[in-house]
Amino acid sequence: MCGIVGYIGKQNTSKILIDGLRELEYRGYDSAGIAILEDDKLDVFKAVGKIANLEAKIETSAYDTESSNFSIGIGHTRWATHGKPTELNAHPHLGEYSYVVHNGIIENYKELKDELINSGHKFVSQTDTEVIVHLFEYYFNKTNDAKKSFLDTIARLEGAYSILLITKSQPNRIFFMKHGSPLAIAHGNNKDEILFASSDAPLIGLASDVVYLEDGVSGYAIDGNIVFNQEVKWTTLPTSKQFAQKDGFRFFMEKEIYEQHDVVTDSMLGRIKDDEINFEELNESLCSGINEIKICACGTSYHAGLTASYLFERISKVRCSVEIASEFRYKEPLLKDDTLFIVISQSGETADTLEALKMAKKAGLKSIAVCNVDNSSMTRVADATVLTRAGIEKGVASTKAFSTQTVVLWMMALYFAKVNETIAKQELHEQLKVLREVPKSLIVEDKLHEKCRRLSKRYLHGHGFFFIGRDVFYPLALEGALKLKEISYLHAEGYPAGEMKHGPIALADPELFTIALMPQHCHYDKIKSNVEELSARDSTICAISPLEFELSDDFIKTKPTDHYMLEFFEMLVVLQLLSMEISVRLGNDVDMPRNLAKSVTVE
Ligand code: G6P
Repeated sequence: MCGIVGYIGKQNTSKILIDGLRELEYRGYDSAGIAILEDDKLDVFKAVGKIANLEAKIETSAYDTESSNFSIGIGHTRWATHGKPTELNAHPHLGEYSYVVHNGIIENYKELKDELINSGHKFVSQTDTEVIVHLFEYYFNKTNDAKKSFLDTIARLEGAYSILLITKSQPNRIFFMKHGSPLAIAHGNNKDEILFASSDAPLIGLASDVVYLEDGVSGYAIDGNIVFNQEVKWTTLPTSKQFAQKDGFRFFMEKEIYEQHDVVTDSMLGRIKDDEINFEELNESLCSGINEIKICACGTSYHAGLTASYLFERISKVRCSVEIASEFRYKEPLLKDDTLFIVISQSGETADTLEALKMAKKAGLKSIAVCNVDNSSMTRVADATVLTRAGIEKGVASTKAFSTQTVVLWMMALYFAKVNETIAKQELHEQLKVLREVPKSLIVEDKLHEKCRRLSKRYLHGHGFFFIGRDVFYPLALEGALKLKEISYLHAEGYPAGEMKHGPIALADPELFTIALMPQHCHYDKIKSNVEELSARDSTICAISPLEFELSDDFIKTKPTDHYMLEFFEMLVVLQLLSMEISVRLGNDVDMPRNLAKSVTVE
């Protein structure tokens, strides 16, 4: 997790670092900091919270923010892993001879720290990162050689990390190392300028070529040159940056909910033509001869995967299992090479999903990344990538990423069925007809939004929420509960409706809120019975359905449709709006909820 940036050059270093960090704020916003070395003079600024706090601090200081002398700088935006989000724990960490920013986790930091304390080093923070500057000091004291000390230091580190380190002894170079966490390096557009960042977003507009470092690559940048320890591949950066704006909406999340109609339409472009389904990105050999599909993902993407597992089995007639990436990695999974491995990720950077993908590749499985960010780590590892085309998603609580993922995976299920001839022409025709209707189901009607806003005030307390559903509405229930937890900080669980009687129903009382997903075209009678059981035990019921339900305490009517997948998207919008409006009433930060980050690059 966390985002790091680095700069060598004559432009306004503090501005370049801050602008870069702002682009990376989605990776964490617990604290931020920069260190700039100019003519042997070091300036360090750190602030708890968002980048804006750091910026304010720099502005009110005596620091010359317009300086265009040659300088080098590093910066960091933090998602706390070791130690609370305090200034002391904020990066850059400063040592006797070096200053460092780090993204990832040094897994053996405790042993290293003990060893260093025993040899007289004094630690000031609770972070794992601080061992880096002490290790550097330890080796530098022995050799007086910065390069050697850097190499000796990184040789001792275990875990996943990317590091930028600057030194007092050679104040014109930045040492770097990439192992697990992402790092990109570019020559800037100005002479002798070099830029570093955790993703390419901060580099766009400032550089034209980039190297997305592979694991194990280290080196240093000096005088416009970059010295790598191995061969690297340069690629062209996009020339224009996409900017996400709120466009009059209160929050990015709100805008992204409203955008779903458009982005889902985009996700279908060129993929559905007349009665045909096609993916230029996939060649048929990837999905023929496959006996199983294994999907791996985290968070909201996992919920899209779980939804897709119903569709792959139902439509493509292929066995499909879904795994949470962090569990999958350590369960010693049996991987067979007739299994197709699909990872789903908005960012393409989630550490657990990325590592799971590498594991599957190593085991000889064919792989596909269903991803929203082109050029992200997963797209570079997978055999093929299907982009979801959701556009930049800024809200930490994922919305349009989920709807586009689900639609893309549904289309992939149809494509596999076509390639493997497990779907009749008429059925394909019918399915495509329904798919084309999906964007309409995602239109947010004023009346519906207003209803969710009004209802939200009744759900600000209680001892918990159960979101319940059956079939694909079970993963949707999981997603609804996750949305609520993420931004309202209220306890919520998603549960298969039929499973409530095996334990959770014991919690039922008026302060237990049941959000019941009751589609007309997917086991309506079954879910109705499950909700009745909860109502009989006095749980407060909020039913979401196109059909009136007399036992509900609150009722949100969705538009009648003739297919359960259209009901799925109708209800998705309701769940997103409801959690957002509850969060608003509670006065929370909707787009940047506490403790979370948009991209999680630690395991
Ligand atoms: C974080 C985000 C979630 C996201 C999950 C997986 O936890 O806050 O919104 O679903 O990571 O991210 P990915 O980018 O792999 O979809």
